[in-house]
This record gives sequence, structure tokens and C-alpha cells, in this order.
Amino acid sequence: MKKIVVLTGAGISAESGIKTFRDSDGLWENHSIVEVATPEGWRRNPELVLKFYNERRKQLSEVVPNEAHKALQYLEKRFDVQIITQNVDNLHEQAGSSNILHLHGLLTQVRSSTDDFLVYDIGNKAIEIGDVCEKGSQLRPHIVWFGEQVPNIEIAAKMVEKADILIIIGTSLVVYPAAGLLHFAPKYCRKFLIDPNAPTMSHIEHITIIKEKAGTGVPKLVEQLLNEN
Ligand code: OAD
Repeated sequence: MKKIVVLTGAGISAESGIKTFRDSDGLWENHSIVEVATPEGWRRNPELVLKFYNERRKQLSEVVPNEAHKALQYLEKRFDVQIITQNVDNLHEQAGSSNILHLHGLLTQVRSSTDDFLVYDIGNKAIEIGDVCEKGSQLRPHIVWFGEQVPNIEIAAKMVEKADILIIIGTSLVVYPAAGLLHFAPKYCRKFLIDPNAPTMSHIEHITIIKEKAGTGVPKLVEQLLNEN
């Protein structure tokens, strides 16, 4: 079976009603990224950070996967599919994809603020100041904030190294190290980029740019790949 690696960003969830990052003046749901997505923000105002992610988690219970998330799941009929997502929502899971690696964490999980390995599933529930891990430390969102290491990046790079086909959907490709994953694809790998604002990418070999929204562009590409195979 040929291996397809899919790298997704905020754009794939836009049509489900979750705002992207860079389409809204550098603000994330009306907050600056420094306030709510950095270790400094957490130290300065943990109540605000918890409230912000509690709201994101609540929003997650109100949104559903769109045609793009759903179409990716059909690829599994004929391909070995690995999804690598920068998104902290769980819409790929809700759509039924089997192999999903979250690069920037997951809203439905929290972890100890002193032991990164103590991770807990909390679904859509809120956490507050005073909610602690089994060792007594405050719980925090299981999100990779700016300035923090991306623990899954090496495993993601190894996945991309084995791709026969790489599909990139709805990411501005400006946040590293995730944006650099494209360069781990083998020379023979066919690449597709689906994004209404995609750049030309003339320096990348074997790439097809599809300037369309994910909700229409992804189902069309999935159909094409299934017919080819
Ligand atoms: P961005 O907000 O930077 O980029 C979203 C991309 O989606 C843009 O290129 C848009 O053109 C595109 N887009 C918008 N609507 C779309 C649609 N309907 N279909 C397809 N594409 C669409 O989001 P990311 O690249 O995901 O990090 O941002 C990367 C990281 O920066 C995020 O994971 C987050 C953020 O700060 C963390 O939370 C650590």
C-alpha cells in the first residue's frame, strides 16, 4: 500500500467554524498569542489562560467535522494514511481517521505543570485554578505554546520521510518546526497543497497547488487519488 502523509493546519477546520490564526490580525479569538499561548502568559495570568482554553474546549463540543475531514478518512480504503496535524481540535478523530499525530497538543487533554508525562483526558470539561495532578501540581492545557519544544517533531519527520504522497491542507507554513516538515519528503514524493491563499512554491519539486477551500478541494483530490489507485 502506498503511504500518504497529510499535514493539516487551522484552515482545514475553518469551515467547521473554528477561526484560523493568521486570518484574524494575529489575534486568536480576540486574545494576543503572547497572552494565551506562551509560558510567560501562563506565569503572568494563569486564570486567563485556563478560561481561554476552557472556552476553546466548550466550542469543540459545538462544532463538527466538515467535508475535508470526512474525505480524508476515505483515503484509508486504498492507502496507508498518516495525518499530522498542527490543530488542537479533535475533528480528525471525530471524522474517523485512524492515525493522527498532534504536533501542538490537544484541547481535550491536560497535563501536570511540573511533570510533562502526566497527561489526562478531560473531554470538553473545564479546568480551574486548584485542579491538580496526582502529584499535587496545578493542571495546565496539553498544548505546545510558543517557545516550548515540539516533542513529536522527530517522529513526524520520520513519517514524512516515508511518504509516497504528501498532502498539505490549510496551513500558512510559517510556524516552525512544523513548516519545515515538507522538506523531509523524499525526492519522488508527489505533493499537493490545498489552500485558497497558497503561495506559488516554485522551489518545491513535484508539487500541485490547489487554490481552493478545504471543504471542496480535499474531497476532489481524494476522489482523484482513489480513482488513480
Ligand atoms: P494559520 O492561521 O497560520 O494559517 C491558516 C491557513 O489556512 C492560511 O494559509 C489560510 O489561507 C488557510 N485557510 C483559510 N481558510 C481555509 C479553508 N476554508 N480551507 C483551506 N485553507 C484555508 O494556521 P496554521 O498554519 O495552522 O500553534 O498555524 C500554525 C500554528 O500557529 C498553529 O498550530 C498554532 C498557531 O499559533 C499553536 O497553537 C502552538
